[in-house]
Amino acid sequence: MKTSRATLQRTDRIKEIIEKYRGEPGALIPVLQEVQEAFGYLSRDSMGQVAEGLGLPRAQVFGVASFYAQFYLKPRGQNMIRVCLGTACHVRGAEKVLAALGEALGIGPGEVTADGKFTLERVACLGTCGLAPAVMVNEEIHGRMDAQRAEELLHSLRN
Ligand code: FES
Repeated sequence: MKTSRATLQRTDRIKEIIEKYRGEPGALIPVLQEVQEAFGYLSRDSMGQVAEGLGLPRAQVFGVASFYAQFYLKPRGQNMIRVCLGTACHVRGAEKVLAALGEALGIGPGEVTADGKFTLERVACLGTCGLAPAVMVNEEIHGRMDAQRAEELLHSLRN
């Protein structure tokens, strides 16, 4: 079987990351963080290589990666849109904001648009309850959202 150049590059990069942490206790999480930073998400192959490199059971690596919300097991869009559905946002209509964004993007929570530009996610609380309903786009918070403002926000992100 032929191994692609991209696969070789990935393999080398992961080896480098593992080497940096070799022998350190509790290396798994920082290694997974760096692998995700390098490739945007943790593929099954990447996690398998991490398991092998650190001498850990695959099930342990997959278990940790799927337990923590910070890890992504699927490719992500260039823009991450997080809609808060915590209590404060929920009572102020966050579901409508999520529905408007989902409809405009043509995807549901946890999915990526076909052009790879957007990921839509639901989160429990963004820590800005005074601005409810709140949406976070990449690192920026947008408060007091409603369906119309959500569509305007998408429009500005697309242009
Ligand atoms: S509940 Fe939405 S920001 Fe806290």
